[in-house]
Amino acid sequence: MNEISEAVRLLEAGRLVAMPTETVYGLACDATNPQAVARVYAAKGRPQFNPLIVHVRDLAAAEEQALLPQKARALAEKFWPGPLSIVAQRRPGASVCDLACAGLASVALRAPAHETAQALLATFGKPIAAPSANRSGHVSPTTPAHVREDLGGAVDLILDGGPARVGIESTIVAFHGARALLLRPGSFARAEIEAVTGSLELPKPGAIEAPGMLASHYAPRALLRLDATEPKQGESYLAFGSAAPPGGLSLSESGDLVEAAANLYAHLRALDASGARAIAIAPIPHAGIGEAINDRLRRAAAPRG
Ligand code: TXA
Ligand code: MG
Repeated sequence: MNEISEAVRLLEAGRLVAMPTETVYGLACDATNPQAVARVYAAKGRPQFNPLIVHVRDLAAAEEQALLPQKARALAEKFWPGPLSIVAQRRPGASVCDLACAGLASVALRAPAHETAQALLATFGKPIAAPSANRSGHVSPTTPAHVREDLGGAVDLILDGGPARVGIESTIVAFHGARALLLRPGSFARAEIEAVTGSLELPKPGAIEAPGMLASHYAPRALLRLDATEPKQGESYLAFGSAAPPGGLSLSESGDLVEAAANLYAHLRALDASGARAIAIAPIPHAGIGEAINDRLRRAAAPRG
């Protein structure tokens, strides 16, 4: 049996499969099966108020699940398949179970571009709920080895799609009637999205519109110090735009933000594994995908709850 048929067999049985996507690896289950979704929350140690992203093949499949306003459809047409999630009102009677949406009236939908994810969706024929395949609050996985480290025996099969190309989670845009909010920056520059939606609102500081916006999130074990132009005594250094110093790593020697995003989580995990107690991180420009990198670093550095 090839791996996709084996994965489909497991999904149909309510089991969990690690699915490569272009952003990060997802912990996939049948989005219409509440027992399977409950297993995902348990495997991650994820609070059940934190809804999952539901993966679909395309816009037509998304419209079976949600009432998409015109601007949401225009976004999907422009950026799907790709690293963009759209939150919109659930369609009454749609097949995704309540638990996947944590009981909310809205659902987060994404059509991933990775060919393995697309093959799985096509063969399975139903929506797939998949949060990032890491323990809740920890750094997202960008390789099969990261998934094994975090979730080990809790996942029934890991599909190997190579290292994730983008390396940070999808951009999330939520629609409330005519309002469009940027819930989570991702690899698209904000201006690329706004060219379609008009100006995006940002969630009010302190408001938790997506639970992934919790202040402390995406965190390694080591303490982080941001905007550090050099390491202090006892710190490992994560460089940007220069070579790695001894014992440290560089997100991108040439100062390429796309390369830095792809390396971010693997490097944080590697410095954690090296036993670093504290990691100092070079300043990262805020342009383009830099907004998302800085967002994740801020959360990773926030005081732990
Ligand atoms: O790139 C990605 O989006 C990856 C890959 C696997 O697709 N998935 C991912 O899922 O990052 P997860 O579960 O780790 O993050 C989902 C985020 C959370 O912050 C969650 O709170 C938010 O999406 N979310 C899901 N449904 C929502 C809803 N109905 N309203 C607001 N936020 C929602
Ligand atoms: Mg996550």
